Amino acid sequence: MQRSDFPEGFLFGTATSAYQIEGHKFGGAGPTHWDSFSATPGNVVRAENGMRACDHYHRYEEDLDLVAAAGFDTYRFSTSWARVMPDGVGQVNQDGLDFYDRLTDAMLERDLKPAATLYHWELPSTLNDLGGWQNPNIANWFGDFTDVIMGRIGDRMFSVAPINEPWCVGWLSHFEGAHAPGLRDIRATGRAMHHVLCAHGTAVQRMRALGMKNLGAVCNFEYSNAIDNTSENLTAAARYDAIYNRFFMGGIFQKQYPDLVLEGLEPYLPKGWQNDFALIGTPVDWCGINYYTRSNIEIKEGAWPNLQAVEGPLEKTQMGWEIYPDGLYEFIMRTHREYTLGLPIYVTENGMSNADVVVDGEVNDTARTAYIEAHLEAAKRAISDGAPLIGYYIWSLMDNYEWALGYEKRFGLVHVDFDSLKRTPKNSYKILQSWLAD
Ligand code: FCB
Repeated sequence: MQRSDFPEGFLFGTATSAYQIEGHKFGGAGPTHWDSFSATPGNVVRAENGMRACDHYHRYEEDLDLVAAAGFDTYRFSTSWARVMPDGVGQVNQDGLDFYDRLTDAMLERDLKPAATLYHWELPSTLNDLGGWQNPNIANWFGDFTDVIMGRIGDRMFSVAPINEPWCVGWLSHFEGAHAPGLRDIRATGRAMHHVLCAHGTAVQRMRALGMKNLGAVCNFEYSNAIDNTSENLTAAARYDAIYNRFFMGGIFQKQYPDLVLEGLEPYLPKGWQNDFALIGTPVDWCGINYYTRSNIEIKEGAWPNLQAVEGPLEKTQMGWEIYPDGLYEFIMRTHREYTLGLPIYVTENGMSNADVVVDGEVNDTARTAYIEAHLEAAKRAISDGAPLIGYYIWSLMDNYEWALGYEKRFGLVHVDFDSLKRTPKNSYKILQSWLAD
């Protein structure tokens, strides 16, 4: 594998998010729904939170040195709403704005293109108290936050996406209850899934009004594999695919929701949802694909959506996620052919967790290198088959707070010792460095 295997100008990057690395207790940030979700027993492994995380808030220069030294062209980071506006609306925390200003300049000094995500999952608690993503006002609250943060750093961004992974914000957090705010309620889900898209569209419009360019949408995808070819399992897999992979893409790129989702969710969508597609479908300049794995789906008796994921036969990562690079190829091609129709596409997240340990200063994470190589091969195949894929970001720069799974699941190219906070580049980092040097 080498850089020259990819078209001229293809961008390689690595990604992180604010709450997972910064250390939320530093710098005057307000409370978020991840602080309270994680403090509630049973939600997060060992009730761990992002209060200190990797202390990136103080160590960002050292961390960006690592990004640059690997040979990456671009760095995908996120801005914490509660760091910038501790109550979500109103008062601005100047220290928070100053931090993102310094971070931006530190990227530019290292020749790294700043790729921002406005929201990567930690919602200011005051807004959560008002119903969070269930409240239709969230689109405008988010728009106001967009104005404040991009009013400060928007002039120097390479690219911006408003929301990381609407499926996680909507379904995972309000239907499955696996992420903050930990709800399991279909009405809350219908509202959150629609409002997150209204917030996306509002933020794009606000950034256009600021004169910003290169604005995109980042969705996550999981390949939906029916456990067999019986018609009921094929239908269950198609329904899973629609909920996970087609609802948000449909809203943004086709101004419609798939029937296989509406059949169960329509009664719970907010009144007048059909009138919001002009906003939701506000044109974007590119689409980001986050991809990790596939699920094996079968029918399950009971209420809609009548399905469940079961364990599959493929080799798995530390997360228990099956390794399935063909899925990445499929989603790049589908995105291009059915949704984005020629817009540039990035892989905005791809990577794996591994039970990495430091032995004599080395981390021998061969499995990660193999994972990345196999997925880059799939990306290359999509490019040869005509997909306008123009960049690829690895999740993640360093081991970090893996949400409900705490600090145990290590996704980094760089190992972090969560006692000393020492950073140790893993072997995958070094191999990547050699690929990117070519
Ligand atoms: C994605 C998230 C990211 C990280 C990876 C493993 O869904 O965007 O924050 O948790 O999964």
